[in-house]
Amino acid sequence: MTSDIYPVPASWADSATISAERYAADYVRSLDDADRFWLEQAERLEWFTPPSVADQSSFHEADFGVRWFADGVLNVSANCIDRHLATRGDQVAILWEPDAPDRPARRITFTELHAEVCRFANVLKAQGVRRGDRVTLYLPMIPEAAFAMLACTRIGAIHSIVFGGFSPEALAGRITDCDSRLVITADEGCRGGKCVSLKANVDAAARLITCLDTVIVVRATGGPVAMQDGRDIWYHDAAALVGGDCPPEPMNAEDPLFLLYTSGSTGAPKGVLHTTGGYLLWAAYTHACVFDCRDGDTYWCAADVGWVTGHSYIVYGPLANGVTTLMYEGVPNWPTPARMWQVVDRHQVTQLYTAPTALRALMREGDGFVMQTSRASLRLLGSVGEPINPEAWRWYHDVVGDGRCPIVDTWWQTETGGHMITPLPGATPLKPGAASFPFFGVEPALVDAAGVVLEGATEGNLVIARSWPGQMRTVWGDHARFFQTYFSAYPGVYFTGDGARRDTDGYWWITGRVDDVINVSGHRMGTAEVESALVLHRSVVEAAVVGFAHDIKGQGIYAYVTLNAGEVPTAALRKDLVAWVRAEIGPIATPDAIQFTPGLPKTRSGKIMRRILRKIAEGDFAALGDTSTLADPAVVDDLIANRVG
Ligand code: WT7
Repeated sequence: MTSDIYPVPASWADSATISAERYAADYVRSLDDADRFWLEQAERLEWFTPPSVADQSSFHEADFGVRWFADGVLNVSANCIDRHLATRGDQVAILWEPDAPDRPARRITFTELHAEVCRFANVLKAQGVRRGDRVTLYLPMIPEAAFAMLACTRIGAIHSIVFGGFSPEALAGRITDCDSRLVITADEGCRGGKCVSLKANVDAAARLITCLDTVIVVRATGGPVAMQDGRDIWYHDAAALVGGDCPPEPMNAEDPLFLLYTSGSTGAPKGVLHTTGGYLLWAAYTHACVFDCRDGDTYWCAADVGWVTGHSYIVYGPLANGVTTLMYEGVPNWPTPARMWQVVDRHQVTQLYTAPTALRALMREGDGFVMQTSRASLRLLGSVGEPINPEAWRWYHDVVGDGRCPIVDTWWQTETGGHMITPLPGATPLKPGAASFPFFGVEPALVDAAGVVLEGATEGNLVIARSWPGQMRTVWGDHARFFQTYFSAYPGVYFTGDGARRDTDGYWWITGRVDDVINVSGHRMGTAEVESALVLHRSVVEAAVVGFAHDIKGQGIYAYVTLNAGEVPTAALRKDLVAWVRAEIGPIATPDAIQFTPGLPKTRSGKIMRRILRKIAEGDFAALGDTSTLADPAVVDDLIANRVG
């Protein structure tokens, strides 16, 4: 299976920006002559003051820090909008496809985007938002989400987007953690024909916290909202009161750009901080090389702006490159499993970027829904968020892409800002399921548990040996946690939390997380977060959560729950616990299985042996390994006997 190679199609080999020779030469130069390489690349952006220095980072505790282009001055919205006005003002910047196929699409040109973003920025200023202030966005996939993001960057405010699927509790935690006093939301968000009152969720979140004093509400559906006097403002009312011009604020390259909360193996979600110059360059440069867009292209990244994929590859990367970016409000399978391919045809999409979980769900519906559409406009397909199984890869390639389109399987993380290991369409012969080769400037390595670097064809823990411009800069409010989480296990390198394999041809294959993070439908979830939610329930004394292989979601959530003395394990209680977790975190954290158990497998020192819990959740009882160190080995028999499956 791994010998299966798809050569670069002739059409790509001849015309792509990055050929195999160019990749090989530039990759070496990006490592050997890194500073010069990156100062050259920085010229892709428009700077008020170009940087004279590139990398000044250190992964060592004594002088720890990540810093790029430190003396450069620029503005992100000016790079994404203003600099395109003279050459492509009338070109569509954002092409918006609504949830319901019978509603009209919206086409926002760069000139219109400029006007919208300036006005939005002036609304924020009128509300007292200043450089460095945190603004929380809790919005559906509507153009105003992009306007609001770019408006923040225009005035130097730091946006923190919270995915609309998170609960009021989760939203409240993210608002207080970064002490954000203003939230931008909408009346409702509609996906798959169902509308959720985002504004009501903000109201519920506001009751839990004290820092919030302004809520700007975008009217998206006209659905009912309760406006609170003195706190809530309609966006359209506020916009009518401000001017239409707002000059971009000159920002230092290392000024904070945005925060995005993401799950780790321990504790509450952390605010990943990205800064202005390095992040924008990374988003723009990776987008340009990996998707290779041309004038006239319509590029579609089918993610949500609530995740990093939406930040880098719906908004910042494509707009910095002057590319028409399609923004889709809905879900892949509504009203029919042909919806994605119909959108491709309707808008003549040239590059499509989506997640394996969506492909697996659509593949299950059969080829008919794909075949009823043309898809002749497609030139390139992309995959992101989780390992893609070879079966889904081949279906994407052979059925969706009619065997014509290369697939870029891009490995990266919220922390990395953009692509790290990925094929390049004109340079890389493809192996189904392999993320392939490192992007320019990325120096991956494999280490064993003791941190010893492994050479040759082998498997191990994936680390990155040097900094790159798009790397996160800190955990908001907790710089020590940044160091502790990523740089303490293996001194001197960045630890990704992923395992990987390098084959005899030097291809990199990501094998999945090696920590207590699970990947559910391409969404990252900390098992500790789900456990904390469960133990908040009055009936629960202890909980342990693990991932298990799931056909569609990639991984499902399996929870082992111990009840308080006197509590009776019933089907009703199980339902109640599922609803409880959904309310605490959001629907993406819905447990797939809950097993009631009188006890958890623990060592004599009280540590839960998760290895055993993972095996039992997988139904893999033969390979439980050594259970002799358990305080009570009999627990295991009970767990096996009562497995939920
Ligand atoms: C984790 C990061 C990447 C942006 C969206 C998710 C997994 C991501 C791939 C891929 C195998 C992948 C990793 C990574 N992952 N892309 N192409 N192949 N695994 O960002 O929420 O920060 O999650 O997603 O496990 O660590 P994220």
